[in-house]
Amino acid sequence: MRLSVIGCGYLGAVHAAAMAQLGHDVVGIDVDGAKVAALSAGSAPFFEPGLADILRASIGSGRLRFSTDIALVADAEVHFVAVGTPQARGGGAADLTYVDAAIESLLPHLKAGSLVAGKSTVPVGTAARLAERLQTAGTGAILAWNPEFLREGYAVQDTISPDRLVYGLPADDGREHAKAALDTVYASALASGTPVVETDYATAELVKVAANAFLATKISFINAMAEIAEVTDADVTALADAIGHDTRIGRRFLNAGIGFGGGCLPKDIRAFTARAEELGRGESVAFLKEIDAINMRRRQRAVDLVVDALGGSVYRKKVAVLGLAFKPDSDDVRDSPALDVAVQLNGLGARVIATDPAAIPNSIRLHPQLGFATDTMDALHEADAVVLVTEWREYRDLDPVVTAALVRDPVIIDGRNVLDPAVWRAAGWRYTGMGRP
Ligand code: UGA
Repeated sequence: MRLSVIGCGYLGAVHAAAMAQLGHDVVGIDVDGAKVAALSAGSAPFFEPGLADILRASIGSGRLRFSTDIALVADAEVHFVAVGTPQARGGGAADLTYVDAAIESLLPHLKAGSLVAGKSTVPVGTAARLAERLQTAGTGAILAWNPEFLREGYAVQDTISPDRLVYGLPADDGREHAKAALDTVYASALASGTPVVETDYATAELVKVAANAFLATKISFINAMAEIAEVTDADVTALADAIGHDTRIGRRFLNAGIGFGGGCLPKDIRAFTARAEELGRGESVAFLKEIDAINMRRRQRAVDLVVDALGGSVYRKKVAVLGLAFKPDSDDVRDSPALDVAVQLNGLGARVIATDPAAIPNSIRLHPQLGFATDTMDALHEADAVVLVTEWREYRDLDPVVTAALVRDPVIIDGRNVLDPAVWRAAGWRYTGMGRP
């Protein structure tokens, strides 16, 4: 199929490359010329395992190109809208400027019968409004809402082999046509048995935010248990293992630590709350404010643990911060709890030396006041305390004996509960986890 993808950020760039990899003919459009140039040269503008390979292969095969020229979408049968919906300034609501601009820019190029498939995460009610816009503009194009569930770090795999597909379809005669077009786009996933949930627009929009709200709730639930464990000398890790054996609960997303961040979970729960309030149903998701609050407290808790471990003040103490990205295998520092911990410690007067395998350049842009080291050993050298805040494999695999010899004082705060306390203590470290005795 001939496809266009409007917006080549995380979602759009991966979607465009993955669709081309599946054999479609894809043009990716973005207003950012530098991003388009990088993508056209086969280089991924962010760290995502496997993306550069499929970019290069698809560009080489002629099935994928990128441009700033929206007119190039004219031949496409399906147009995916994959622009960002960031948190609006001064509030929790989603900023729909880019979605609206994408639709307006598409209007002159839409052919009757073409499909516009929304992928961006939007407040419920947006798709109905956009469908009306397509209609009043007389385009004859049909709208579907087709949310995306990819995880950073696994984005290519999640796009090519999703665990489910959600089609938010129009109620009128466009329905069958929209479904048929999406079935053709996703033919390979369908052939391997991927379940499809067909819904109306509102349900499709809600599925996306409900999924992220549930995941955020799961993380904050276990972090709330960590807070209780902290005052009872219980071990939240063992607790998570034990409740996770119940298949109704499941062990995944029950890792207590400094909490969730990134470009999705934090903003999505805030936008959901704002939208529910607009709809007069604020009380239905009022718990999400608590989820947010628990999450933000855990960052503060990690900072407090470092302060306590250093006898009440971090002033002029060298603190090695292991990790800056919001999670491993990513260079994304949007709303990163790890970066936040580094910034807070720096604000308290610590000499922070932060390191990360991928996220240093993005962190420098936001917080040039921090100290950085590309080499983990340099970060650890003569440190008064170490705080592990992003669980990259190389930090999980650190040798406690070797590292103990590097630091000034063997004090470690494990903000992700990924180190074995017994092993680290045996090597002479004063180990503190998050909700572990
Ligand atoms: C999240 C969702 O998992 C995806 O399904 C969704 O498509 C995506 O948002 C999106 O809306 O685009 P992502 O932001 O890549 O994906 O990150 P997650 O893997 O969900 O992790 C989010 C945060 O939660 C990270 O900071 C991670 O460290 C933290 N986390 C995760 C925990 O603190 N504990 C856990 O047990 C799991």
